[in-house]
Amino acid sequence: MKFSIKAGSAEKINTGCVVVVVSSKGTLGDEAKLCDKASGKSISKIIRSGDFSGKLGETQLIHNPTGITAKRLLLLGSGDARKFNSRNSAKMFRAGINVLQKSNATSAHFAIASLKVSDRDANWIASRLAQESEDCSYRFDATKSAKIKALAIKNISLAAITGSRRKELVAELKAGQAIGKAINHAKQLGNLPGNVCTPSYLAKEAQDLSKKHRSLNTQILGEKQMARLRMGSLLSVSAGSVEEAKFIIISHKGAKSVNRPHVLVGKGITFDTGGISLKGGAGMDEMKFDMCGAGSVIATMGCIAEMKLPINIIGIVAAAENMPSGIATKPGDIVTSMSGKTIEVLNTDAEGRLVLCDALTYVERYKPRSVIDIATLTGAAVATFGPHANALLSNDDKLASTLLQHGEYCLDRAWQLPLWDEYQDLLNSNFADIANIGGPRAGTITAACFLSRFTKKYKWAHLDIAGSAWHSGTLKGATGRPVPLLVDYLRNQKA
Ligand code: BES
Ligand code: MN
Ligand code: ZN
Repeated sequence: MKFSIKAGSAEKINTGCVVVVVSSKGTLGDEAKLCDKASGKSISKIIRSGDFSGKLGETQLIHNPTGITAKRLLLLGSGDARKFNSRNSAKMFRAGINVLQKSNATSAHFAIASLKVSDRDANWIASRLAQESEDCSYRFDATKSAKIKALAIKNISLAAITGSRRKELVAELKAGQAIGKAINHAKQLGNLPGNVCTPSYLAKEAQDLSKKHRSLNTQILGEKQMARLRMGSLLSVSAGSVEEAKFIIISHKGAKSVNRPHVLVGKGITFDTGGISLKGGAGMDEMKFDMCGAGSVIATMGCIAEMKLPINIIGIVAAAENMPSGIATKPGDIVTSMSGKTIEVLNTDAEGRLVLCDALTYVERYKPRSVIDIATLTGAAVATFGPHANALLSNDDKLASTLLQHGEYCLDRAWQLPLWDEYQDLLNSNFADIANIGGPRAGTITAACFLSRFTKKYKWAHLDIAGSAWHSGTLKGATGRPVPLLVDYLRNQKA
């Protein structure tokens, strides 16, 4: 898709579809008024008929509107104009884009120069329109024999929003598009089945990515090299699988000088059976999504390379498959992590923290400015937050509040849980330095407590995305979260 800024009065724009906004009770926006006037009050007539009232997310497509240059006219409902905020505008854009994609229009123009979003500026609106357009255009057909026809819509233009600078809008369209594409990249990796998207597949994906972007460099460690680094915890997870674990290191060099990097670490369990502590059969297919943290890291690295961020960033993926077998790790087994700490594996289904802890020790070498791990870590996060929030836990209050703010800004929201010392005792083990589970209560917190034992040397935040990374049910599929949050955070870090 191509995005651009286009000048001209709504009724005279030459495009496949001109899009105008109508707020609740049929109140016409400035551009809708112009189209109404030019078309002999056709919009007013539709509103009077009761077919369209301007409710938030409502749409009405009109073909060959008389008096208007565009081939189609699309009315978008914005709801109460006074309450029109960022979340509402995202919803409205999605509704509009979905209609455009069902039509055969190859181009569309959003005549929204006068649109006001109460809590955001014009640049945000432009970026969001591009992001949603890409996000909504995602279709999965990689493992279907019938391929889905490409969408007709190719060009989306936008009126220069009042009070904006054209140059900035163009840049924001580009940024929003890059974010939208990265969201789709993460979705694609998540949606691929476990027999395709293996640890080796993720490694290849990272290598391909670094061939595409000059600032990126990828290094892959296999099990032999991990053994040499004494990553006994990570290797205990892949012990039962025929798929070799891979440790993936993607580095983006954006700063000219030697500069301490920000680090992302993704959980990349390409399938989680639970291991010997085998999961139940119902819904187990969804454990192919247990690498969505890894997918978000790979996609984010591609995005920040595309954006040429002037800072150094390292993306790490700890990729393994968690399987039962005659040589799999058993409950009660004790393993030695790269940090030297011994771990009693009381439940082989608490495997995410076992791969992450070695990755978190590994990244100490970078003297990172911040480390964020992203993991589909606990069912408890799904129970707590459902699909809406990323669970956030951190050993640094400033980093936590920064991430909360960025999540709010890009509508990829996080909510913080406490990492109090009182919870740490739940991880005591009679036989090792630490147990890998903390009992049935406060599961998201005890999982983060486990990780916190390995992150003492830097500012660290943990995002448990078990609820937000994919949808279940008829809409089953990866969401691409928290790519928007990660990109928004990194974009705003000083060089
Ligand atoms: N990948 C799962 C977490 C998960 C479960 C995410 C369901 C989304 C939906 C993780 O590896 C796991 O199995 N966690 C266990 C930990 C428990 C054994 C302490 C869980 O949450 O049940
Ligand atoms: Mn598990
Ligand atoms: Zn898991």
